[in-house]
Amino acid sequence: MFGFFKKSFLQSELLNGFTDVHCHILPGVDDGVQKMESALHILDFYEEHGVKRVFFTPHVAEELHENNRDHLLQRFDELTKLYKGGIQLALGAEYMIDNGFEMLLDKKEDFLCASGDTLLVETTAQNPPINMSQIIFELQDRGYDIMLAHPERYFYMHTADYEELVAKNVQLQLNLLSIVGLYGEHAKKKGKNLLEKGMYTYVGTDLHNLKRHQQQMGIKAFSKSELKAIATLIGNNNQLPIGK
Ligand SMILES: [Fe+2]
Repeated sequence: MFGFFKKSFLQSELLNGFTDVHCHILPGVDDGVQKMESALHILDFYEEHGVKRVFFTPHVAEELHENNRDHLLQRFDELTKLYKGGIQLALGAEYMIDNGFEMLLDKKEDFLCASGDTLLVETTAQNPPINMSQIIFELQDRGYDIMLAHPERYFYMHTADYEELVAKNVQLQLNLLSIVGLYGEHAKKKGKNLLEKGMYTYVGTDLHNLKRHQQQMGIKAFSKSELKAIATLIGNNNQLPIGK
C-alpha cells in the first residue's frame, strides 16, 4: 500500500507491548475523552493491539481549576474500579508550566507522577515560560526527572534550545503522530528532524480522541528508519517503572 519500506503504525505492530506515557483517556477532566464508556472502549482497543501499560496524563493548568491532585485521584479511582481489562494503569498528569504551576512548586506540591519521579510538563506552543531554566533547576533539585511533552510543537524552540534541554537531562517526548503531520507541517518537520538526530527519549500518543488516532495510525505511512527510531523510544518507555 505504501511502497516497499513504508508501513502504517498499526501495521508495524509496535503497539504490541507498548507503554503509553502520555494520553488524555481519563474521562471528563480535560479536553480529551469525555465519557467513561469511551475511555473503557479505548482501553479495549489498546488491549486488542497488545498495549501493556497506560499512564493517564490529564492536563493540569491554571485555567482548569478543578484538576487538583485529589480530584484526579478520585476520577482515576472511579475508572480503575470499573476497568476489568488486563492493561496496567497509572495516574500522572501533564503540567502546564504557568503561574499556577509555579504556585504549586512554591507550595511544595506532591506532583502526580505515573512512573517514579518522572514528571510530564508542557508549555504553550507560542511562548516560553519566563522562568523555564529556574523551574527546571528547582524540579530537578526536588528529585524529579523531567519529561517534556511534544517539544516539536513549540514554535519558539530552536535547535540550540533542544540541545540545551537535553544537556540538562530533560527527557524529550515525541508525540507519535507529529511526524505524520497530525499537528501541522511545523511539528512534522521538527519532529522528523529531532527523531533523526536521536534527541528524543520517549514517545507517547497524546491521544485525546480515539477516532482520529485510530485512523491516522491505520493509514499514515511511516518510513522504515522512523519506525526503527520509534521502536527505540518504545523500548525506553517500556523500561520505565510503573507507579511510585
Ligand atoms: Fe497532552
